Amino acid sequence: MLRTRDEAAQKSAWEFMDSKNPASLALTHVDFRYPDGQLVFDDLSFSVEPGEFVAVLGPSGCGKSTLLNLLSGFLRPSRGEITINGDLVSPEHPSLGYIFQSPQLFPWLSVIDNIQFGLKMAGFLSQKEQVEKARYYLQVVGLSAVAERFPHQLSGGMRQRVSLARALATEPQLLLADEPFSALDAMTRRHMNEELLRLRARFGQTVLFITHDIDEAVFLADRVVVLGRAPQGVDSEHIIDLPYPRSFPETPRTPRFFEYREHLLDRITHVMETVQ
Ligand SMILES: Nc1ncnc2c1ncn2[C@@H]1O[C@H](COP(=O)(O)OP(=O)(O)OP(=O)(O)O)[C@@H](O)[C@H]1O
Ligand SMILES: [Mg+2]
Repeated sequence: MLRTRDEAAQKSAWEFMDSKNPASLALTHVDFRYPDGQLVFDDLSFSVEPGEFVAVLGPSGCGKSTLLNLLSGFLRPSRGEITINGDLVSPEHPSLGYIFQSPQLFPWLSVIDNIQFGLKMAGFLSQKEQVEKARYYLQVVGLSAVAERFPHQLSGGMRQRVSLARALATEPQLLLADEPFSALDAMTRRHMNEELLRLRARFGQTVLFITHDIDEAVFLADRVVVLGRAPQGVDSEHIIDLPYPRSFPETPRTPRFFEYREHLLDRITHVMETVQ
């Protein structure tokens, strides 16, 4: 359900915190073609349940980024519908949060101001509440000490945590992530994966996470959706029934993790071998 500005303004910044109100997502018979004629999706349908963590896995060029741009409302389907909680998506949808491959922070704003910026744009909160909330989410990602620094003074992992805090601060019911940790080194990436699961357990959002890394998909997701070569859309779906909390290095060492990884590797290999 959409929050109106008036309703939202009546609540304090703190009332929204820790509220578990995840969104559902549905794609129904979606076709998408770029203006130059490139057909990326032909009758794509799948849905994500409230609170579910779905990883979308697929080879380069299968349409992962296109899918995310469709889900965020930046691109419109040529046919079919994409809805969040039953409402058609649009970029201004207040239930959406994004984390991109590169952190996309404003270099001229301090860390705290970067986080506050999104809250200011949303327009729900007073200046004081914006600052309080920005500080709270910075503490959630363990970066209170660098609040006044500028993005160029941070490591790559810290920048990505700021971008995570910025996305979480708007308290989205649905978090969309496009390979957000792929530029990080292996150790930092593992730490960010654990961090994301910890925050998700706490705040309970629905997450749709794009990746081309099988291990990352198995570690994070409740379900993995494999995309075939464009315009095939969904090749297969795989439930990942691993217990929480998941952690490194324990979870990837379990036999079941290994089985899921091998199974997905076979599937992806099959997709890659499919003639374009
Ligand atoms: N703006 C565009 N105009 C025309 N075709 C495009 C455009 N952007 C992407 N495509 C094409 O759409 C298809 C899907 O591209 P997309 O970027 O969604 O793939 P991807 O799965 O994200 O790949 P990668 O893993 O390399 O990021 C590709 O064939 C690509 O060439
Ligand atoms: Mg992409």
